[in-house]
Amino acid sequence: MSESTDLAGRRMIVTGGNSGVGEQAAVVLAGRGARVTITARNQARGDAALERIRRDSGSDDVEMRLLDLASFDSIRAFVEKWLADEDRLDVLVNNAGAILSERLTTAEGFEMTFGSNHLGPFLLTNLLLDQLRASAPARIVNVASLAHRGGRINFSDLNWESRRYRGPQAYNDSKLCNVLHAVELARRLEGTGVTANACHPGPVRTGFGSAEDTRGYQRAAMVLARPFLIGPRSGARPLVHAAAAAELEGVSGRYLSRWPLSAAPGARVKPHRPSHVSAERARRLWEESERLIASRNR
Ligand SMILES: NC(=O)c1ccc[n+]([C@@H]2O[C@H](COP(=O)([O-])OP(=O)(O)OC[C@H]3O[C@@H](n4cnc5c(N)ncnc54)[C@H](OP(=O)(O)O)[C@@H]3O)[C@@H](O)[C@H]2O)c1
Repeated sequence: MSESTDLAGRRMIVTGGNSGVGEQAAVVLAGRGARVTITARNQARGDAALERIRRDSGSDDVEMRLLDLASFDSIRAFVEKWLADEDRLDVLVNNAGAILSERLTTAEGFEMTFGSNHLGPFLLTNLLLDQLRASAPARIVNVASLAHRGGRINFSDLNWESRRYRGPQAYNDSKLCNVLHAVELARRLEGTGVTANACHPGPVRTGFGSAEDTRGYQRAAMVLARPFLIGPRSGARPLVHAAAAAELEGVSGRYLSRWPLSAAPGARVKPHRPSHVSAERARRLWEESERLIASRNR
């Protein structure tokens, strides 16, 4: 699968595909023949995006399904229906993500940024793993961010219960979780034909940071930065590259960056702060994530 290769029939899911880089990645992947499912958490926004993606890609082989990554029930319902309808999955793009000004909580009571940017995609990926394995060669793409460099991850307080909540720090931490998740997935999936990589789209002009949950100086910073950001089509290139480039066949556990902007969309770089992206921390995050999800099953 080179950048211009036909992706005919390849079955793909792009979460948060009703906006921004996810939507533009869906346009490109569908335009090359992939059968793309975008997910949205709002029916009207999802329907409107589906119409745009079909128009812009020239493909009718695109569908929209509802999925709220801040709800385990929604994730389980999505997967149950997906597995009933579909017999394969070639690429899962964990793209949906948000930055929040206040400490909100998910349906299960987890801090929202950690819950919806990491725990939800973690559960979704685990529930789809058997099908991805059976569809190998297959790929998992976690849309992380350069912001992972500022991530710390306080393992004794993943839920922000004993600290004053700081939205930007919670976001950075969640993006570091996306990188660590890909690292541990790659380790666990070695030899299965399923690869897992994280990528950074670059600083992109999207709906990011403009939701009603983002306020104050965070929102102001996003507005002021807008003229200096790249367009969403350009920001989607690293996602498309990670999902489809032939040169990445068999490549796993990498962080594919778009920084500096002059770099190729899939430039392979080491994540910043190797001590924060160690195999040991990746394994620990996996175990903690499993434990937290299991704690809500009782
Ligand atoms: N823009 C940048 O400069 C930049 C830089 C680095 C990394 N990223 C990453 O790129 C990814 C896509 O962001 P974007 O820039 O394209 O922003 P965007 O236009 O705001 O798109 C984000 C998508 O995620 C969805 N989403 C948010 N919370 C969700 C939840 N709980 N459940 C399901 N879907 C949810 C949004 O749905 P709604 O439309 O319903 O809100 C939207 O479809 C994110 O992971 C972000 O962290 C962006």
